[in-house]
Amino acid sequence: MYDSESMWREVDAYFAGELVPEDEALVLARESGPRTTMPKAEVAPNQGKLLALLCQMSGAKRVLEFGTLAGYSTVWLARAVGADGQVTTLELEEQNAAIARANLERAGVADRVEVRVGSAADSARRLIEDATEPYGFVFIDADKPSNPTYLKAALELTHPGSVIVIDNVVRNGAVVDADSSDARVQGVRTVLADIARDERLEATALQTVGAKGWDGFTLIRRTR
Ligand code: DHB
Ligand code: MG
Repeated sequence: MYDSESMWREVDAYFAGELVPEDEALVLARESGPRTTMPKAEVAPNQGKLLALLCQMSGAKRVLEFGTLAGYSTVWLARAVGADGQVTTLELEEQNAAIARANLERAGVADRVEVRVGSAADSARRLIEDATEPYGFVFIDADKPSNPTYLKAALELTHPGSVIVIDNVVRNGAVVDADSSDARVQGVRTVLADIARDERLEATALQTVGAKGWDGFTLIRRTR
């Protein structure tokens, strides 16, 4: 047998060392996580690179992110869309937004990222009201009970072909407890059921282990 958590961590570090070089701006963005209201919630380096690759594979030039925190995934996505791309990222806390803006500035992508402060549901509603140009890639990674609300909003803000990724759909296996009293678990279960019922959407979910423990992503493609 082996100590799974430490091995997952070691393998993640090995993969990141081989394939996921971080410049100083990414390192500082990741290391500023503990100064946010939710330490350790940022994606792992190899997950940030995964988001960047998925974004590029989708061809998206416009990205919408629910949940900014320190902006670590935001830097990955902003670099993925390139200098002619655009990222809108929604953050509840001004304290976190200020940290994110500094990280985005240091990463050289502040000009292509808008950090909107306030409840992500309100900010998304405003984007819909303003008939914002659709986004090609959406990353849903804010408060988990609101996942169904964020997916609904994402469907008002995307086009056929858009890709939507949802973080944290496993949470140490808690997701299989249908009777869970945890609103975060129900937020995941409800959004998965909503996805399954929506004929516009093709989706899967994957479990991951690594630096962030046992968790997972849902990957969605909007077909029409
Ligand atoms: C938490 C939130 C996240 O988005 C994440 O990736 C990990 C943990 C949390 O709420 O603790
Ligand atoms: Mg997350």
